[in-house]
Amino acid sequence: MPDATTDAPCEAVVVLAAGQGTRMRSATPKVLHRIGGRSLLGHALAAAAPLAAGATVVVVRHDRDQVAEHAAQVLPEVVVADQDEVPGTGRALWCGLQALDAARAAAGLPELDGRVLVTYGDVPLITRRTLAGLLAADPGAAVSVLTAVLDDATGYGRVLRDASGEVSGIVEHKDADEAQRAVREINTGVYALDLALCRQVLPDLRAANAQGEQYLTDVIAHARERGLRVVAVAADDPTEVDGVNDRVQLAAAGARLNARVLEAHMRAGVGVVDPATTWVDVDVELAQDVTLLPGTQLHDGTVVAAGAVVGPDTTLTRCRVGAGAQVVRTHGSDAVVGPAATVGPFAYLRPGTDLGERGKIGTFVETKNATIGAGSKVPHLSYVGDATIGVGSNIGAACVFVNYDGVTKSASVIGDHVRIGSDNMLIAPLVVGDGAYTAAGAVLRKDVPPGALAMSVAPQRITEGWVASKRAGTPSAEAAARAGAPDPHDGTTPTDSQGATR
Ligand code: UD1
Ligand code: CA
Repeated sequence: MPDATTDAPCEAVVVLAAGQGTRMRSATPKVLHRIGGRSLLGHALAAAAPLAAGATVVVVRHDRDQVAEHAAQVLPEVVVADQDEVPGTGRALWCGLQALDAARAAAGLPELDGRVLVTYGDVPLITRRTLAGLLAADPGAAVSVLTAVLDDATGYGRVLRDASGEVSGIVEHKDADEAQRAVREINTGVYALDLALCRQVLPDLRAANAQGEQYLTDVIAHARERGLRVVAVAADDPTEVDGVNDRVQLAAAGARLNARVLEAHMRAGVGVVDPATTWVDVDVELAQDVTLLPGTQLHDGTVVAAGAVVGPDTTLTRCRVGAGAQVVRTHGSDAVVGPAATVGPFAYLRPGTDLGERGKIGTFVETKNATIGAGSKVPHLSYVGDATIGVGSNIGAACVFVNYDGVTKSASVIGDHVRIGSDNMLIAPLVVGDGAYTAAGAVLRKDVPPGALAMSVAPQRITEGWVASKRAGTPSAEAAARAGAPDPHDGTTPTDSQGATR
């Protein structure tokens, strides 16, 4: 294929997506299944739509409303065309062009002429480069068909050539004879077609074939009859044009797409230790010298800045990770990790988490709707929800921000350089002033002024000999006896005392 140095765009793109996709065995329409964070139809549109000077059309029929709604979300200006009950790819394109003409007429625009690029909604790996190459190959041809040479061409339409090697037609597998089935050059179903030719021949396509369908491929024979030029353009990478018909092919396409995404990142300076277990959506942004450790999955617009290390075994969705940060064994969504901050291992960052520069969210910590200031730390075994923590503060081990009374959520505000002791319950709404300290085990029900110490410890009670009395015969009782603990059965009476009273 010639390299498309200058794009030779087409006037219109038509994406065929009216087929049923029964082999997915799914309540979700086939073209709405996702790989790399994007629907199959979204991939088809991302590659082709930018090449259309005039309009982009998606032809729908099965699961019509769901597919149409999704197409409009992906591409608001899309023209949705309904295929009628007449089956076949030729009919699909004709329905698409009629809807296109109607939409333009309604907008007071003239009919388009020039070329239409035809692609499929279930061929997600095709690249804009390949499509641009097809358009650039021979802009004067009435038909340019993208072909591929396969070892096993079973099921595909075969490209037929005449004595001089010119493409004379395409025969479907089901209609082909033995000699035709031996041909390994196949029709990918992607074409650049002259719109005037389409308007002439598509309305009257016959369905005299094994499947009783109006075949778009018959356009080629019609073009040849009219003495128009038909060219075949071979795809550089035949795997680009693989269709997805079932979940096995979906997984295979997802893996190939992921390998392609990772390769592009690695060539741009991202370290990927184990590409086989690292999954990155197409819209994720990774800066130079980011390192992704095994088992990392980055989804839906996640952005990672230079020098950050993510993983192992980390899943981030719509997160932003700052330069030089480390995120280890973490599950996060809609969260921000500041530059040089550290997270994990075993952290759960829920939506609204915003960790400041050099901050820390440590081991077995869950955060939600929590702004944690620069240099502040929540190192161990805590829940921080609906909270704002200033700079340079430390939350001791095993603290809970008690933000929910069973009916309403309330917020906590912790100042700068605060020291919250271990095992505190911070009962919101609560304000802890700058520079305050709280003692271990405090249950904070009232605001703590700046610089104060808050304690809420109950006195410790000691009941001597309780184990010998209530747990006689247990290993604990035996250990206590060996340590010389009083035993009521010996005649010593257990005393109920406070503190060190003996
Ligand atoms: C078609 C081609 C075949 C080619 C193959 C490549 C025809 C007659 N045959 O085969 O030469 O090798 O693609 O995959 O064109 N669609 C509609 N409306 C329809 C039928 C299909 O919109 O009435 C859409 C489908 O949703 C799909 C695409 O067209 O996106 C191809 O349909 P499919 O049934 O897979 O094509 P084949 O007949 O297998
Ligand atoms: Ca197919």
